[in-house]
Amino acid sequence: MNLRDLYINFFVEKGHKHIPSAPVVPENDPSVLFNTAGMQPLIPYLMGKKHPYGTRLVDYQKCIRTNDLDEVGDKTHHTFFEMLGNWSLGDYFKEESINYSYEFLTRVLNIPVERLAVTVFEGNDQIPRDEVSANIWQKLSIKKIAYLGIENNFWIAGDSGPCGGDTEIFYWRSKDPIPESFDPEDERWVEIWNNVFMEYYKSPEGKISELENKNVDTGMGYERVSAILEGVDDNYLSSVWIDVIEKIETIANFSYQGNEKSMRIIADHIRSAVFILGDPSGIKPSNTDQGYILRRLIRRAIRHARKLNISMDTNWEREIAEIIINKYAKYYNELTQNKEIILDELTKEKEKFNRTLEKGLRELEKLIRNLGNQNIIDAANAFKLYDTYGFPIELTEELAKEYGFTVDTEGFKAKFKEHQEKSRVGAEHKFKGGLAGDSEAETKLHTATHLLNAALKKVLGNNVHQRGSNITSERLRFDFNHDQKVTEEELQKVEDIVNIWIKDSINVEVIEMSKEQAIKSGAECMFIERYPDMVTVYKIGDISKELCGGPHVKNTSELGTFKIIKEEASSAGIRRIKAILL
Ligand code: SER
Repeated sequence: MNLRDLYINFFVEKGHKHIPSAPVVPENDPSVLFNTAGMQPLIPYLMGKKHPYGTRLVDYQKCIRTNDLDEVGDKTHHTFFEMLGNWSLGDYFKEESINYSYEFLTRVLNIPVERLAVTVFEGNDQIPRDEVSANIWQKLSIKKIAYLGIENNFWIAGDSGPCGGDTEIFYWRSKDPIPESFDPEDERWVEIWNNVFMEYYKSPEGKISELENKNVDTGMGYERVSAILEGVDDNYLSSVWIDVIEKIETIANFSYQGNEKSMRIIADHIRSAVFILGDPSGIKPSNTDQGYILRRLIRRAIRHARKLNISMDTNWEREIAEIIINKYAKYYNELTQNKEIILDELTKEKEKFNRTLEKGLRELEKLIRNLGNQNIIDAANAFKLYDTYGFPIELTEELAKEYGFTVDTEGFKAKFKEHQEKSRVGAEHKFKGGLAGDSEAETKLHTATHLLNAALKKVLGNNVHQRGSNITSERLRFDFNHDQKVTEEELQKVEDIVNIWIKDSINVEVIEMSKEQAIKSGAECMFIERYPDMVTVYKIGDISKELCGGPHVKNTSELGTFKIIKEEASSAGIRRIKAILL
């Protein structure tokens, strides 16, 4: 039986409810781009909110960590991974948690006890040393127990949130004799499971307080444990990956041996791209946020495919993606549902990048030849490679490194910012122009724009976001992401909803708050980086909440009748609506 099923069944038998994996892009947590741990979607429940499934939960969760994206290419790093996790929300605590882990590892997975070692939290001036966990392990005849400090045995996602001391379980992954004690510096000991005893909350100011409940949050890396159980020391040779690697070997007509790095990068990055594109969040390659990470992953995979002389005229990216989709279909239904989108977006991005990649590479080689001894690519050239040839800065850095060159990344960032500033000034100008005189008509259209934005979400889904707006005294123009033409029926619905809201005479409130608070509260915003630390949020009842400079009407009843006059494409994946008030 597959490790996922073994894990879920075990914990279901122990009274846990199997909850589905949350989307890889967090739904209500704009503080992170991707879920990086199984607990992330559960934060509100760890903080005390009642979970509809009860107090014992188990799942496998899609996670993405990109902080060591550049390390992918070795035997163990991946950008996407699955985390097997079980949770107690104020239910059981250390005793049961440790006993369950021990039982699963030794009785279900049949791991010999001698191969296991554990670490527990040694405590600090605020939190006592975790003798309780150490005693439980001892009773279970685990002898190798090490006490480690806050940097090793205390877990928190990011800088603030629910947190606590943890106990980590290690496995001796080597044919060498098993040592008598655990040595954290010895890499033959690999961490396989982390049981966090989440009983504290750390505020953004760094203050530790006790949570309402004593919770347990555990996480086990599916890829890593699969490799261990199968006795391979290269994760990419385990059953998680082997058919993907074999497919790449066939496509490239090279063997894995000698080409490991590029093949691992292609396998890993295409898998992550498949999961991001297959997520209900509707992310597409772009130059911001998750879309930029997706673009980087696909472009880096393309670059390594070219290194293996894979012809760009073939459907290599689709073939690899298809293997991945089929492989995961049983566990992640959304991949089958979104198969066409996944495959088409990969191909589109390949075609787009290939149009400029060749020229960009030539440009880079020319640069490198001309620079001679001065082995640093300056900011202007790095920016040109980005702007003209679509080279993510990280790709330029990676390529430069292969030639023994470095890149003035700081300078690039400054240039990038300068470029953004320029577009911002341009945008503000247009905006000001649109609102010249803050005439009554424009103010009304401005409020109508917020209602339109909210109504589009109701009709087309929450993935719809503003991509542009322009208002004159005659009409509003609103751009938003959506992949197909909005049908007549949908437009009618949107129009009707806005008109109902107008009839409902809803007050428009303006609230001042910190930018951070505004994001936390889920307020809509197009270019968050363009706003100061203190912002104004316009709230229209429960319908809409947007970061905005205003001005707006006081009550929706002032708007009259809303009418959509046109719907058209604005650019790829972006639709445009023009509307008036009568
Ligand atoms: N949140 C912990 C981790 O990511 C346990 O799941 O390691």
